[in-house]
Amino acid sequence: MKTASPSPVARAEQLLRPADATCLLRSAALAPSVHNSQPWAFAVGARHVELYADPSRQLRNADPLGHSLLISCGAALFNLRVAAEHLGFRPRVRVLPDPGDATLVAVVELSSRHPNPGARARYYPAIAARRTNRQPFRDQKIPQATLTTLEEAVRAEGAILRVYDDPDEVSRLVDLLHDADLADHTDPRRIAERQAWVGGPHRDDGIPTHALGPRPADRSSPFRDLGHAVDTPRDHADFEASPTVAILSTPADRLVDWVRAGQALERLLLEATAAGLAASFLNQPLERKDLRWLVRSPTTGVGHSHMIVRLGYGDEVRPTPRRSPNHVRRVPRLAL
Ligand SMILES: Cc1cc2nc3c(=O)[nH]c(=O)nc-3n(C[C@H](O)[C@H](O)[C@H](O)COP(=O)(O)O)c2cc1C
Repeated sequence: MKTASPSPVARAEQLLRPADATCLLRSAALAPSVHNSQPWAFAVGARHVELYADPSRQLRNADPLGHSLLISCGAALFNLRVAAEHLGFRPRVRVLPDPGDATLVAVVELSSRHPNPGARARYYPAIAARRTNRQPFRDQKIPQATLTTLEEAVRAEGAILRVYDDPDEVSRLVDLLHDADLADHTDPRRIAERQAWVGGPHRDDGIPTHALGPRPADRSSPFRDLGHAVDTPRDHADFEASPTVAILSTPADRLVDWVRAGQALERLLLEATAAGLAASFLNQPLERKDLRWLVRSPTTGVGHSHMIVRLGYGDEVRPTPRRSPNHVRRVPRLAL
């Protein structure tokens, strides 16, 4: 018996194959997230992906507004876009499309598959290679041309990257880091929260001890010791004398800007990875309402700060764990 050729609708429904869905979700889940909390969930439809924030994974004490949570989801969204372009799709993204539901962070709609990958597909190999690197970096200056490429990558996603090169500004920032550390280390609720995510037995989320890096031998180094008050023996090491620190900010500070900051962050990190650079973060002042606005540069005075990034050349580090695609997958809510 002759079988009828599939209708256009039936063909459209076959757009995302199981292997495509796995590639999209694995790529998204490799994004950085605050304390490796992976505060996301995904639903894959016939021709779209829904990205949800998972409030059960929010850091209620360090991140009561969900700022870091939405930045993490934004980073996952950027990886989704890159993977979609790698597969030949041209994704159309709607960020926070439902004003009544802030947990629906984005809907990524996919139309027909093109024979050639999109422009962002060039970032695809860097998704699996990127790491947060809390080891000391070499005392090797980053060429200005490379820094300009990083600034452009961030600008392309609607955010601003400002590299701190003035020693007075760096030392002002280091003072803020230490003020924030002091406040953090005397806050029992934040300590307990951090202890639940950092170190401890092997699992598929959180920050393993091997990723914490050594403690700085010189306590005035710009560093964030996420292992503070976590009971694990660690070495001490000298960190770079003149670190390269950059602030990622956006002109406005709405929820949609937090998602934008996350996308810009991931683009920055993938661009940096491709250029052979390592990165870690010094976000402690941004997690304090009283200190966050002081991070803003007094000379430029623009923007709302989202990430403090330390950049440099470092040795390779091991990856951190991730939950499997099955653990982060839900049933789609939208019929598109
Ligand atoms: C919004 C956000 C804030 C973060 N803040 C810090 C931080 O202040 N210090 C730090 O060492 N890492 C920070 N991280 C990095 C995460 O701990 C890291 O992404 C996570 O442990 C997963 O490891 P990976 O990046 O190597 O994949 C942050 C990441 C995000 C997305």
